[in-house]
Amino acid sequence: MAQGTEGTSDARSAAHAQPPTATDAVTPIPAHVEPRAGDPLVLGSGARVVTSTDPQAVAIAVLVAGRMERASDRSIAVVHEDDGSPGAVVLRLADAAAVGLPPGTDAGLAQEAYRLEVTDRSVVLTAVAGAGLLNAARTLQQLAEPGEAPGTWLVARQLVVDVPRFAWRGLCLDVARHFFGVDVLRRVVDVMASLKLNVLHLHLTDDQGWRIDVPSRPELADVSGKTAVGDDPGGFYTAQDWTQLLAYAESRHITVVPEIDLPGHVNAALHAVGELTPGGRPARAYTGIDVGFSRLHADLPATRPFLRDVLGDVAAMTPGPWVHIGGDEVLTMEPAEYRTLVRAAVEELAAAGKTVVGWQEIASALDGAEGDGPGRAALEEALAGAIVQYWDEREGAEEVTRAADQGARVILSPATRVYLDMRYDAATPVGLDWAGHVEVRDSYDWEPLEVLPGVPADRVLGVEAALWTETVRTAEDLFLLLLPRLAAVAEVAWSPAARRDWEAFRRRLPRQTRRWTEEGYTWYPSPQVPWSH
Ligand code: ACM
Repeated sequence: MAQGTEGTSDARSAAHAQPPTATDAVTPIPAHVEPRAGDPLVLGSGARVVTSTDPQAVAIAVLVAGRMERASDRSIAVVHEDDGSPGAVVLRLADAAAVGLPPGTDAGLAQEAYRLEVTDRSVVLTAVAGAGLLNAARTLQQLAEPGEAPGTWLVARQLVVDVPRFAWRGLCLDVARHFFGVDVLRRVVDVMASLKLNVLHLHLTDDQGWRIDVPSRPELADVSGKTAVGDDPGGFYTAQDWTQLLAYAESRHITVVPEIDLPGHVNAALHAVGELTPGGRPARAYTGIDVGFSRLHADLPATRPFLRDVLGDVAAMTPGPWVHIGGDEVLTMEPAEYRTLVRAAVEELAAAGKTVVGWQEIASALDGAEGDGPGRAALEEALAGAIVQYWDEREGAEEVTRAADQGARVILSPATRVYLDMRYDAATPVGLDWAGHVEVRDSYDWEPLEVLPGVPADRVLGVEAALWTETVRTAEDLFLLLLPRLAAVAEVAWSPAARRDWEAFRRRLPRQTRRWTEEGYTWYPSPQVPWSH
């Protein structure tokens, strides 16, 4: 190895560049950053990844080394024993005290927390669990600045101790109105992971299409996998696609939450399964963008077996703890029937061991369990443990607040802030505007705990952006709407309120967009951001 000469050029590049600290470079901004004096760490020819033999740490070490290899065009060793020479990226699993978390830190949040300490010899990433190590690696990636010598990287000396504010930091993606295959979803997962988001909620079924092949009802995907808005091409995930997607997301510590929307938004199901309609005949395919017209029928004999089969299959295909049942915008049903159908879905999922998530409308169906049958206690527990997702600020605050009083946890998706299918402004080429225009600052400058003031902080599970795809036909359109607003939402969900600052965020944003450009993502050059700063 030509260590000597390369070492000299590494040192020369160190003398010229001024790599940033995490406060200036990392999105979402970390909870705690202490700059340290002295020359930066140089990751050059001697760079390597040092890890214990713990399989979680090894898996992340391999990911980190792979990324460093692609960035530097040299091979990066992963080693268990180290000689202490300069250039080590060290991964350590340890307890919460070693990470530097205050006593009493929520155990779930602690799993995602990390410590990153840079000296002139090494960067040490310490975490309680693999999720935290991965977050540390994401921070390191954003901190590393190219040195003058090709393939060298500089990292400023500093200490970062970071922990998420909210446990649920999500993105809901509608793949029903327009279908996006696993290749596009991988790219969505990558950009989510870089922003420390941890939940990908897939809206798999709606009036216009059915996007997951469930073994007990193959006709759903066979028939309604073909349709989409505007007669655009459809598509669906086979069991194999689904397994591959979940594994990809899981390796990045992102949980996939499947949504089967019911008892409304079901025209695709009625189109594939005639017995779900009162006349027993399949509904016509629907490729428009109206909402609220389709519905299941509680009194049809085919309805409950349909719920049992589909929800049972989806639960069995999904290792994560949550299944989303939609429940939104059922405009043609009396409350009693709505309640019956939502509770039937909750019961099926409880039997399958899953926690139910639903849009805010389900709040009205969660109180009390009738009857005294054998399933009553389980249903009561499932109803009380449900998660309610608030989206429509024009209504529903009271019902959601009451559900939270009774034990429900709440995810915040206020449309005027985080519905990323809203246009940025009147000139945005795709998107809707029923909740107004949503500029980058709108997505950034809001406080989650002020959205539903009656809901106590400990009931707020987190924040989720949503991207509905009525007008979104291509991956380019999709990322143009997501980026950079998804970065704004990620910071709202991850960073302590006291660390958030719009001016600082918008100055940091060009670092992100440079990376997105390099990686081939489209993004919106908002006039609110100082691009040439
Ligand atoms: C929704 O936007 N209908 C949840």
